[in-house]
Amino acid sequence: MPKDTFYITTAIDYTNSAPHIGHAYEKLLADVIARYQRSCGKEVYYLTGVDQHGQKVQQSAEREQIPAQEFADRNTAKFIEMWQLLGLQYDGWAATTHPQHKAVVQAILQKLYDAGQIYKATHTGYYSVRQEQFLTDKERNEEGEFGPEWGEVEEREEENYYFKLSDHIEWLKAFVHAHPHFVYPAFRAKELVNALERADAIDLCITRPKSRLEWGIEIPFDTDYVTFVWFDALINYISFAGYLKDEVAVDTAGLPDFEALWPADVHLIGKDIMVPAHAVYWPIMLHAIGFPDEAMPKLVVHGFWNDKRGEKLSKSEGNVIDPATRVERFGREGLRYYLMSAIATGRDADFNDERIEDAYSQDLAKNLGNLLNRSLNMPKRYRERVLTKDADYDDDLNREIRETFTTLPERVAEKMANYQVNLALEVIWSALTLCNQYVDKTAPWALAKDENEAVRLDSVLYHLAEAMVHAAFHIAPVMPETSQRMQDQLNYHFPEGFTVADLKWGLLPDGHQLGEGTPLFPRLT
Ligand code: MSP
Repeated sequence: MPKDTFYITTAIDYTNSAPHIGHAYEKLLADVIARYQRSCGKEVYYLTGVDQHGQKVQQSAEREQIPAQEFADRNTAKFIEMWQLLGLQYDGWAATTHPQHKAVVQAILQKLYDAGQIYKATHTGYYSVRQEQFLTDKERNEEGEFGPEWGEVEEREEENYYFKLSDHIEWLKAFVHAHPHFVYPAFRAKELVNALERADAIDLCITRPKSRLEWGIEIPFDTDYVTFVWFDALINYISFAGYLKDEVAVDTAGLPDFEALWPADVHLIGKDIMVPAHAVYWPIMLHAIGFPDEAMPKLVVHGFWNDKRGEKLSKSEGNVIDPATRVERFGREGLRYYLMSAIATGRDADFNDERIEDAYSQDLAKNLGNLLNRSLNMPKRYRERVLTKDADYDDDLNREIRETFTTLPERVAEKMANYQVNLALEVIWSALTLCNQYVDKTAPWALAKDENEAVRLDSVLYHLAEAMVHAAFHIAPVMPETSQRMQDQLNYHFPEGFTVADLKWGLLPDGHQLGEGTPLFPRLT
């Protein structure tokens, strides 16, 4: 089966803590891109999930004296609950303790081992007992020492398995050079090129001895070791997409067809995990497994949400932002709108409760909610809610409205092609502003008083209502429920399978009866 599906994935979240606004932003951005692609008529598969193995999970579980699986499951439930609260719609759930994923990771390890891509070696180095990791010169402070944060540091010798990353660095350099769109945005692609120029040709340690880490996928050719968590986690993008479904059929229920999906159109990740994990290890892993250059995925790298002072969100600083409290105050779609409008994809932004309040009151309650209300109340007052489609009246103001809304799909598409949801929303909101000005300029309340203006009034009321139908279509990827509520109030519902190609001016028929208006975004108390 040929690739016919838009395949979008996000990073999988560590289950050693609860979801915060940063995790939520990434999953939401993918949800919005997925919904947008569907609205363009594309088949879409959205995969997200949780990264359940690794040292941090093991340590947290030990602190609570419960089994690691129990700890991972409990925290996984928190992520799932949060994604439901935010109204995310994903097609696949990648939890890395899933038996099929484990089996695929093991099959890949065995294949690479058999191909001579994995070897065993002894490493001697400085080891932090507290952090349970080997340290490199990068961890030394300005005085050239390992600071107190590392606790006791001792020299240790350890045997592990290594993946021959160095064999493929030259291939990766050439690949990145020949594929400038491997990473979006361009400034991040440049960062990768710079990093590769400086890269040491070293191999990747892909195991941990069970004596210090048990919570991982056992390697198939030596039961004393588990797989390094990144090697395991990256494989989720293919194992949960149906890769090796036939050869390694442990638990394949619900898995899609790999050929229909791969290569991924978007791996959506934060800037902190681009180099080395996603832009160095991952393409090299795929290349070593045998994926050709045309089958490399695309990385879309987003920025970070910081606190309102621009400080990094951190659990120890106590400034992490809990999405649930904001959903409580601004509603699910109030938060969705803010998270999508107040950050430029690729850049950082500061999370600010005053600005979310502003966005709610101005953009949502006033520019959208109030406009819809006017568009419904005036026909109610003057025409018993019934629209006349082809009123024998036209002027430049009407033409401007039609022109604005009929060109909206392509103007939104231009922004969405680069995942710039904030700019797409700006384009949509400028169309709403135009509608608000249109109401002020045409002053339907004055037209209603003059019998000679009856036809013009019909045309104004039609233009407004039809514009609201189009607005309901365009806001749907970011605010699906608001779009539904608008359709309910307009008493017009996009039929099943309706796509942007069907979005023509004049959807509302002559004699259309509008519904009852209720505020979309009630005043905040
Ligand atoms: N488990 C790894 C990813 C493995 S992918 C094969 C991981 N997990 S994480 O929980 O730390 O981060 C998950 C995602 O959330 C990453 O893409 C990360 O960049 C993103 N974010 C974490 N904090 C963030 C912000 N403050 N702002 C925006 N995104 C942030 O890394």
